[in-house]
Amino acid sequence: MPAATGEIVLGIDTSCDDTSCGIVKGGKKVLSSVVSSQDSIHAPFGGIVPEVASRAHVERIAWVVEEATERAGVSFEQVKAIGATQGPGLPGSLLVGWEFAKALSFAIGIPFIGVNHIEAHLFSPFLDREEEIDFPVLGLVISGGHTLLAYAKEPFRFSLLGQTRDDACGEALDKVARILGLPYPGGPHLEKAAEKGSPRRIKFPTAILPGTYDFSFSGIKTHAWRVFQENKYSREDIAASFQEAVINILASKLLYAINSLPVKSIVVGGGVVANRKLRNVLSHIQTESNIPVYLPSPSYTVDNGAMIAGLAYYLMKEGKASQKEEDIKPALSL
Ligand code: KG4
Ligand code: ZN
Repeated sequence: MPAATGEIVLGIDTSCDDTSCGIVKGGKKVLSSVVSSQDSIHAPFGGIVPEVASRAHVERIAWVVEEATERAGVSFEQVKAIGATQGPGLPGSLLVGWEFAKALSFAIGIPFIGVNHIEAHLFSPFLDREEEIDFPVLGLVISGGHTLLAYAKEPFRFSLLGQTRDDACGEALDKVARILGLPYPGGPHLEKAAEKGSPRRIKFPTAILPGTYDFSFSGIKTHAWRVFQENKYSREDIAASFQEAVINILASKLLYAINSLPVKSIVVGGGVVANRKLRNVLSHIQTESNIPVYLPSPSYTVDNGAMIAGLAYYLMKEGKASQKEEDIKPALSL
């Protein structure tokens, strides 16, 4: 790989339950990415406890940033800007990374750049990628907190096409995993259970919301609950059939968008991208439609500071620095 050129940017994300910092050169080449997961802290509660998450961020943030600079082999003098997630996210969690990044940038005397966490997920497939991604781009974000479709005619100017009307798809997977008695976070455990079950044994309602780019997962989630109460099917069969229903919804919305808009590339970001069955379906869509589908490397599917740093680089190039008095925006959308 040729040596990366361009300025070095440090990015921090503490939007939810992971404390992360990434260092990126020229907007694309990741020099380091450190993610301190809080999964084991929240697992006994079966979900994220906001107060516990923000306290854990406070304890970890300084170490995570120091570790990222050490692994990248860069000093603060070499960093040209600091990006931090401004929103959306849990207020108490966002504040920790935001104030830490702000203080650090003003102490060093470099620009401080607020980044939209959803735009950063859409940016994650561009990290560490040599080839150019052609626009217009259709973007899909599938995480624990968000499920949405976005569209950009030119680099990184995504606008919202549609989003979930109830649960995010990761949230629905986590809730059904919990119903089935699987540990938190449920997505990966549900995937494992699904491998031993049949996706065709239980019929799920088709919750497609035709003619819109919106999603809904609460109907199939309730159906999974009812089926579980009936006590007729194995945990594995429920997991496999529910996972299939979730993937069907995602695939049908992608196909609807491809057929409605001029699309040259598809990017997909967020924790649920780790799902292998979904990856197979996306690869099938790529072959059938002849539109390349770009996924982030596994380490950039979850929340990470590298995607914040990467996008912050391009915002810096556009002169978009945040001001000292700017605050977090927990309800920020695209
Ligand atoms: O992007 P992310 O780390 O956090 C948010 O920004 O929300 O996504 C976390 C979500 C969780 O709901 C988790 O269960 C899901 O991604 N997830 C998976 C898998 N790995 C993580 N869902 C399905 N299959 C997986 N292998
Ligand atoms: Zn996220």
